[in-house]
Amino acid sequence: MKVMAFNGSPRQEGWNTVTLLEHALQGAESAGARTELVQLYSLDFSGCISCFACKRLDREEDGVCALQDDLSPVLDRVQDCDALIIGTPVYYGTESSGTRAFLERLCFPYLKYDPDRISLFPKRINTAMIYTMNVPENKIQEMGFDQVFNMTKKFLQLHFGSCELLLSTDTLQYPDYDLYEAKMFDKEAKYQRHHQVFPQDCQRARELGKRMASSQA
Ligand SMILES: Cc1cc2nc3c(=O)[nH]c(=O)nc-3n(C[C@H](O)[C@H](O)[C@H](O)COP(=O)(O)O)c2cc1C
Repeated sequence: MKVMAFNGSPRQEGWNTVTLLEHALQGAESAGARTELVQLYSLDFSGCISCFACKRLDREEDGVCALQDDLSPVLDRVQDCDALIIGTPVYYGTESSGTRAFLERLCFPYLKYDPDRISLFPKRINTAMIYTMNVPENKIQEMGFDQVFNMTKKFLQLHFGSCELLLSTDTLQYPDYDLYEAKMFDKEAKYQRHHQVFPQDCQRARELGKRMASSQA
């Protein structure tokens, strides 16, 4: 059992998204999985360029993106893995641009445009999206973010199997709120939540990782 996680935040150490992914992978490891964490923002890659090489009838292989860049070997390794966990901060109500680019390259080569077999991914696997965001939970619906999260969930289900969502809300954005524009935030409430609620989110991530590594899609 191999579980791959992808950090779609440019902040790669100690911040919200990557911390939750690390906990998810620890949970997966506790269930016996081998794990790999990919830092998307360390890679030089682009989103889909709409070349349609993956849709050509005379293609040599199914599910392979013709673009060659830093993401190519990563996508090759996805073919052999048994669960995918994708973490992203919410940027302007959706996934970060790096995460969007990754999702395009991950999913589109497996889309067959055939009602009898819509996905070319060779097996059904568990996937999860972990979203971290500034807004509190009660604003998610009002802002329409839930529609975005559910749309991505639907596409991952279509291509791969199951998809679970984990939302971490009202996250800490700055190490020190006195140094940055932050008038609209209650900094003490932010620090307190980071110490009291974020550890619970980490625990939920750990349980998610364990579930992903021990259940069938
Ligand atoms: C460019 C940018 C856009 C953002 N847009 C939103 C947003 O639309 N909604 C939201 O709740 N948070 C937004 N945020 C806040 C981040 O989603 C939040 O701080 C997140 O937890 C950061 O994750 P990280 O600590 O892993 O980098 C934005 C942050 C940045 C840098």
